[in-house]
Amino acid sequence: MPQTLLQVEDLHTQFFTSRGVVRAVDGVTFHVDAGETLGVVGESGCGKTMTALSILRLVPDPGKITSGRILFRGREVTKMTDEEIRDFRGNDVAMIFQDPMTSLNPVTKIGRQIEEAMTAHERFTETLARGRVIELLKRVRVPAAESRVNDYPHQFSGGMRQRAMIAMGLSNEPSLLIADEPTTALDVTVQAQIIQLMKQLNRELGTAMMLITHNMALVASLCQRVVVMYAGRIVEEGPVEQIFNSPQHPYTWSLLRSVPRVDEARKDRLVSIRGLPPDLSNPPPGCKFHPRCPFVIDKCKTDPEPSLSEVGVNQVARCWVLMRNVTEEGVEAAKASALSKDAAAKLKAPVMEVEGNAGG
Ligand SMILES: Nc1ncnc2c1ncn2[C@@H]1O[C@H](COP(=O)(O)OP(=O)(O)O)[C@@H](O)[C@H]1O
Ligand SMILES: [Mg+2]
Repeated sequence: MPQTLLQVEDLHTQFFTSRGVVRAVDGVTFHVDAGETLGVVGESGCGKTMTALSILRLVPDPGKITSGRILFRGREVTKMTDEEIRDFRGNDVAMIFQDPMTSLNPVTKIGRQIEEAMTAHERFTETLARGRVIELLKRVRVPAAESRVNDYPHQFSGGMRQRAMIAMGLSNEPSLLIADEPTTALDVTVQAQIIQLMKQLNRELGTAMMLITHNMALVASLCQRVVVMYAGRIVEEGPVEQIFNSPQHPYTWSLLRSVPRVDEARKDRLVSIRGLPPDLSNPPPGCKFHPRCPFVIDKCKTDPEPSLSEVGVNQVARCWVLMRNVTEEGVEAAKASALSKDAAAKLKAPVMEVEGNAGG
């Protein structure tokens, strides 16, 4: 049995604004096992970052964790004292962000900053920390680490800064590293290098990772398991291979359609999902994806969202329709309609239970 490191149960994080309550995280339950790599995917605004910040109790004002439990090795994070939570951040869990420049101090040498991260948590004495910095930079494959330790952040390239941030994140040997869009600001080649690095570190150090991204291709190359978020909720979860081969929620299916596959030549053009995720202060009734769903049926618009149900081995999804119930013609029609409304109209495919096609 794998050891559960982090258990998040029915987490609700809300923003109290003049426009009303924004349900940024709306009843999220998931876990991370020791040493595993979990992907958290969804478009921008789906609650990924707020889920991560909730785990560290760093939700910005006017946001608040309103209910739920966050257990780390069985300890309740939401009940930790200020001192305990400081200890927890960095020592147990470290987080790296999208833009390393905003998290690095521009006037302090890289090496010194990593050193400070270590001594702040009192795990290492200053002398010990200094010795470890070069070792850490080498571990994240910063070339000429002995001299570059004295560089300032602006002397590092984007990719090297992200490596330095990862070194800082790893400096206190956390058992969980949360990486929030760690490669989004980087160009494709450097992205691949950082993902490769994270994969190696996971293997070498056994650090569990939670990779937050809107990019399914990154999940495929790094993660074992994936959680798909939409509008503050988990809509599907399962082993990466299964989710890629047999997504059951139409949102997952749509996300996968908008990702280039490296392992197969694509017949159909890449498309993005039509429309935008809902405003979380005023989401649509029923399933929150229904206004954008190519397979929507009446029930999706009126009934409360279904709960997550088992759709495969260790795979769950929250959907009244499920992709396995959609005919091939239905899928083809949805693809066609995503490309062009006219094309879909011409198909006149018998789509099971689907009214119209793709709401086009
Ligand atoms: N400062 C804020 N004030 C009000 N709402 C916010 C604030 N920050 C985030 N939100 C809400 O939380 C939702 C989730 O945000 P976030 O977790 O950052 O999304 P993601 O990381 O998936 O892009 C957003 O759609 C937005 O509605
Ligand atoms: Mg985010």
